[in-house]
Amino acid sequence: MSIPLLDGTIQLGEQLFDEQNKELIINFNNLSKACQEGECSDVVFALLKYLNKYVSEHLPYEEALMELFNYPEQHDHREQHTRFKNDIENYTEMLAHYEPLEELVIKIYRTFFQWIINHVRKLDKDMIEYIKPHFAAKT
Ligand SMILES: [Fe+2]
Repeated sequence: MSIPLLDGTIQLGEQLFDEQNKELIINFNNLSKACQEGECSDVVFALLKYLNKYVSEHLPYEEALMELFNYPEQHDHREQHTRFKNDIENYTEMLAHYEPLEELVIKIYRTFFQWIINHVRKLDKDMIEYIKPHFAAKT
């Protein structure tokens, strides 16, 4: 399995939103580095704690922005949020009971990587490009 490090993500220009996106990449890179060093199991508890915070804070924030600016793709976008939230919930539950840990870490790693590549860098980017001028006009 190749283990990439990812660089910065797209910016809305709103401090909290952009900080949360930056934190997402930092957490992904921490996992990647730990896995390269054969120590991904050591970071998985902290990572899932972070991802639970991300799904309970960042995703509702995005959803509120989409609603506020009447984003036309919000229904499909929310569905993906729900699926990711369910994945994180399942992984959190599995972490308490599932053995072996290494296999679970690989699943979490793949889900996290796909989330950034397929959701954050595509759907979130489209959403931010739509919202950005509305957001700038409002502030
Ligand atoms: Fe999103």
